[in-house]
Amino acid sequence: MTMSKPPVLEAPIQGGSLLASIDDFLAADLAEVEQILWRELESDQPCVKDILQHATRFRGKRLRPILVLLSARACGEVTDAHKLLAAVVEMIHIATLVHDDVLDEASTRRHVATVNARWNNETSVLFGDYLFTHAFHLASELPTSHACRVIGRATNKVCEGELTQIHERGNLDLSEETYFRIINGKTAELTAVSAHIGAHYAGQPADVVANIEAYGRKLGVAFQIADDLLDLVGVEKKTGKTLGSDLQKQKLTLPIIRLLNTASSPDASTIRELLAHPDSDTRSELAVYLRKSDALEYTATTARRLVDEACEHLEVLPESPARQLLADIARFSVERSF
Ligand code: IPE
Ligand code: IPE
Ligand code: MG
Ligand code: MG
Repeated sequence: MTMSKPPVLEAPIQGGSLLASIDDFLAADLAEVEQILWRELESDQPCVKDILQHATRFRGKRLRPILVLLSARACGEVTDAHKLLAAVVEMIHIATLVHDDVLDEASTRRHVATVNARWNNETSVLFGDYLFTHAFHLASELPTSHACRVIGRATNKVCEGELTQIHERGNLDLSEETYFRIINGKTAELTAVSAHIGAHYAGQPADVVANIEAYGRKLGVAFQIADDLLDLVGVEKKTGKTLGSDLQKQKLTLPIIRLLNTASSPDASTIRELLAHPDSDTRSELAVYLRKSDALEYTATTARRLVDEACEHLEVLPESPARQLLADIARFSVERSF
């Protein structure tokens, strides 16, 4: 059965060109962040060098470093602390991806083989640990413990989110409330702390920092909702990563929760049966029911509403090109196709 393209994902904004213009705006700072990141991760062990070389083959969107640097610009000046911490949050992000690909048994990430596919699960566990420990080693270079404390706290919450998700695997009655708790932990904590760091190290007072952090949190939740839509109806060639793993691993996401909550009783029984026994056809078999329902629109609308709320928090800052780009990247987070 072939899956038709869902309407909500048919007209993505020019995500690629937005990222390119942000890259231009932040070029010098982002280049420095890359240098700091790879310098910190350097190793004289050939086996570690091999993995690092593999990891440099495709860069990812660099959303979290961009959030640190753009928030800094919108709030004042980019400092050395911002650049160092932008590298720290990206390392933590990559660590979570390396571990996540073991959990999801994913074979492709950032258009290349995952560490677990290219090497094995043991290597992924240890390389993820290597990234986590280097992140905190690097953050400890700063004169105060603020960054270690807030990033440590955020990372604790990321782990709690991931643990809750594993605990809820296979729960076909997962509530929206629990779903939001999971994604707020596993994804939004890191985007929230990235934005927080941008504002805090630009010398903003606590109330402004809190608003910028709230922007980052809402953006993160919206970003994960969009990611969950892509897992269900996206195109692997565009995302560059294995899709369909939420279904394969019986991790319920917003479109499926909505589908189950709104389907007729006979349809809901069939859908539950499909979800309970996932295989390579489940994604296309569900498309029939998704097309009949408002689940995709409902999900996209929920994400867009969160983006609007995120952007309202930016109003504590004066208008500027950086503030505009923060709003643009929030929109990109939900309209993207990769
Ligand atoms: C993927 O994050 C994991 C999620 C939180 C959905 P990104 O989509 O930011 O991954 P990269 O860094 O661009 O590869
Ligand atoms: C995990 O979520 C994201 C993390 C915070 C580690 P996903 O499993 O949806 O991420 P992808 O889709 O594999 O990138
Ligand atoms: Mg995954
Ligand atoms: Mg996903």
